[in-house]
Amino acid sequence: MPLEIFNQYESEVRGYIRSFPTLFAKSKMAEIWDVDGKRYIDFFAGAGALNYGHNNPKINAAVIEYLQNDGIGHALDMGTVAKRDFITSFVKNILKPRNLDYKLQFVGPTGTNAIETALKIARKVKGRKQVMSFTNGFHGMSMGSLSITGNSFYHDDSYGVPGYTTQVPFHNYLGDKVDTIAYLRKILGDDSSGTELPAAIVLETIQAEGGINVAGVDWLKSLREICYDFDILLVVDDIQVGNGRSGNFFSFERAGIQPDIVTLSKSIGGGHPMSLVLLKPELDKWSPGEHSGTFRGNNLAFVAATVALDTYWADDTFVKELQLKSQLVEKRMQDLAFRFADHIREIRGLGMIWGAEFKDPELISAICSQAFADGLVIETAGAADDVIKFLGPLIITEALINEGFDILESAVEKVLIRNRTQEGKEAAQ
Ligand SMILES: Cc1ncc(COP(=O)(O)O)c(C=O)c1O
Repeated sequence: MPLEIFNQYESEVRGYIRSFPTLFAKSKMAEIWDVDGKRYIDFFAGAGALNYGHNNPKINAAVIEYLQNDGIGHALDMGTVAKRDFITSFVKNILKPRNLDYKLQFVGPTGTNAIETALKIARKVKGRKQVMSFTNGFHGMSMGSLSITGNSFYHDDSYGVPGYTTQVPFHNYLGDKVDTIAYLRKILGDDSSGTELPAAIVLETIQAEGGINVAGVDWLKSLREICYDFDILLVVDDIQVGNGRSGNFFSFERAGIQPDIVTLSKSIGGGHPMSLVLLKPELDKWSPGEHSGTFRGNNLAFVAATVALDTYWADDTFVKELQLKSQLVEKRMQDLAFRFADHIREIRGLGMIWGAEFKDPELISAICSQAFADGLVIETAGAADDVIKFLGPLIITEALINEGFDILESAVEKVLIRNRTQEGKEAAQ
């Protein structure tokens, strides 16, 4: 059995290998092949780390050339040519065209490092320990990130997760008739609400792991206002829905707001591990070396990231392509919801992240397994794992989007037929 060694030696904590039980061997852009040569279309993109695709040829060429020329691999936070080029490209292609002024802080290479850093600097600058986050938010697995992550699956009392956090209702958490912004303003302004003034409010503008919950533009604008009014820092966690996922580079651009702090990771490294915190210059109150980490700034990722930024973000061609692709994804999601209206409660999404919420979560795991057997890698989201989530690489072709959705539709059909047959058999017994 090809997976025996994992079963024997790898921790029980392994997760995705259970959903996708094969030995993957090769990948190119939006396709993956296993060791037997079976091909899969990728609607998962490494949980958002592969927006520019697997083994993107331009990125690979630059990384290979860098290695062949003995470019600096590891340098903590020393100055390197690769890092200089990344900063230059990020400022030129991302910050300047959007009129954004941020200092860049490189942190350890995973998203949770960026969140820990954001929490720390926000608390330090404001001199307050409380932080607010939202119901269904997901921010990572280290202790600070966990303290602002809702899903109880990841929590256990014994972890000693630090306190000083409050979770408040996200947009539409209580249905579209309840104004959660009004609630937030009320508790912040009321000395008797029992809510301490937070240093920061942390949010995903589109909750990804939480079930593809898209915050409305007006809601985001009002949240920005609240933060100004109460002198609270607004931290946008763009780790999953930044880097073009929402249809533009940052997910908050659609609301015309500027967060005080932004966390980026996943695809910022062009497929290589990298994590970054953007700070309004006046918040950069660190003293030299005060927040460190051995793997701050991964030079291979700098090389990959620079190519990604120069290739896809130097003008608006990519954004226009994304608009067309996201229209197609939305249309295919609508078709799915129409065809299986008895089973799908709602579809939600924006840009290149979409979800279909099913009434029966058990159906979903069967559908994902069937889709995988038929050559599609697709994942679930939501507190109850009741949402099927499209998160294909942004460079995926329209042909592959269509092929993937055809597989998904037929997987739903197969599972429903199987369930009906099973029910029929049980009724006959
Ligand atoms: C919005 C968001 N924040 C933070 C994280 C944590 O990132 P990492 O798993 O790289 O630590 C994730 C991971 O999925 C995420 O989706």
